[in-house]
Amino acid sequence: MKTLIIGATGYVGSRIAQTFLSHGSETYGLARNDKNKEALSAAGITPFEGDLAAVSKLAGRLDGFDTLVFAATIPFEDEQKTISEVLGAFAKPGRSLIFISGSGVVSTPARDGAWNDYTAAEDSPYPFEPMRNRKVRLVTEKLISDAASSGLRSFILRPPLIWGHAGSIQVPQLFESARKTGSVCYLGQGLNLYSHIHVDDVALVSRLAFEKGTPGSIYHLVAGEVNFRSIAEAIGEVTGCPTRSLSYEEAVELWGAAWVDLGLAVNSRVRSPKTRTDLGWTPTHVDLIEDIRNGSYKQAYDAAMKSGYLQSYSWGAHG
Ligand SMILES: NC(=O)c1ccc[n+]([C@@H]2O[C@H](COP(=O)([O-])OP(=O)(O)OC[C@H]3O[C@@H](n4cnc5c(N)ncnc54)[C@H](OP(=O)(O)O)[C@@H]3O)[C@@H](O)[C@H]2O)c1
Repeated sequence: MKTLIIGATGYVGSRIAQTFLSHGSETYGLARNDKNKEALSAAGITPFEGDLAAVSKLAGRLDGFDTLVFAATIPFEDEQKTISEVLGAFAKPGRSLIFISGSGVVSTPARDGAWNDYTAAEDSPYPFEPMRNRKVRLVTEKLISDAASSGLRSFILRPPLIWGHAGSIQVPQLFESARKTGSVCYLGQGLNLYSHIHVDDVALVSRLAFEKGTPGSIYHLVAGEVNFRSIAEAIGEVTGCPTRSLSYEEAVELWGAAWVDLGLAVNSRVRSPKTRTDLGWTPTHVDLIEDIRNGSYKQAYDAAMKSGYLQSYSWGAHG
């Protein structure tokens, strides 16, 4: 089997690439520059030159692959055009496509950091107006799901907050708030919830979907859920900083509107009954808070402190 991982140099894609490699797939990673090529080769992944900015060229070169994993981060409008072109070239019987989406498509706003009781299973109706550009991603998901009718084994994975190996989008931002302001910041009441999943479980479910998934399915990936105030308190223990509630306006000033609206000022609560039943999966890592207090995040913080974190260190997505 020959697999191409698009996004193989990223936080999520790099773990998926290792999982496919260790299960016997001839594994390639899309590389858009020399730095990517070096990183992929060092990780045992064969670089495949190409850039999503020139997707037409890339789409014409996908014929040798049986399986495609799309784990790149590009603007959702571009993502939709890219996926349309890729499907046009790649959607043929017997081939597989795994698309890493996110629980953001079924989030609900929480600018005051309040709790909300809506949780979405894979096939739940979403009785709200989708937020901002998530409408676009929902259409992209539908294109992928519908492509199963042409014989493509297509799967959509919706991870919520991804953590582990000191990576993630949200957790490092809260560490950064302590570095920038002296307090670990959260929004409003801090009771809004994000479901979460360890990055190694994202990789595991990607492989299980490929092996035994039902084509056209959406799979949710959930180990548990935690509110932002609890995350902030755990980071406070690690850093020795107090926690502090911010208004929405203060949060935007600190982190920027794009990230606040997508990653912080929301409840993003999902459940995964179909994933567990269809794929026989149970999460292998469940305790995000413990990983902050005593695991990969504390280790990364301690190492960063030794190397001058307070002056210059910026948390990287890869941990
Ligand atoms: N991280 C999370 O907590 C999280 C949660 C839910 C869903 N997701 C979803 O998971 C996916 C991957 O996220 P991530 O956190 O792994 O992102 P990431 O670490 O930022 O990695 C993004 C990847 O996309 C590649 N890429 C970006 N533009 C490209 C282009 N023009 N051509 C080729 N490759 C390009 C990057 O390559 P370079 O190395 O060259 O930049 C990199 O490999 C996204 O769809 C995201 O929505 C992530």
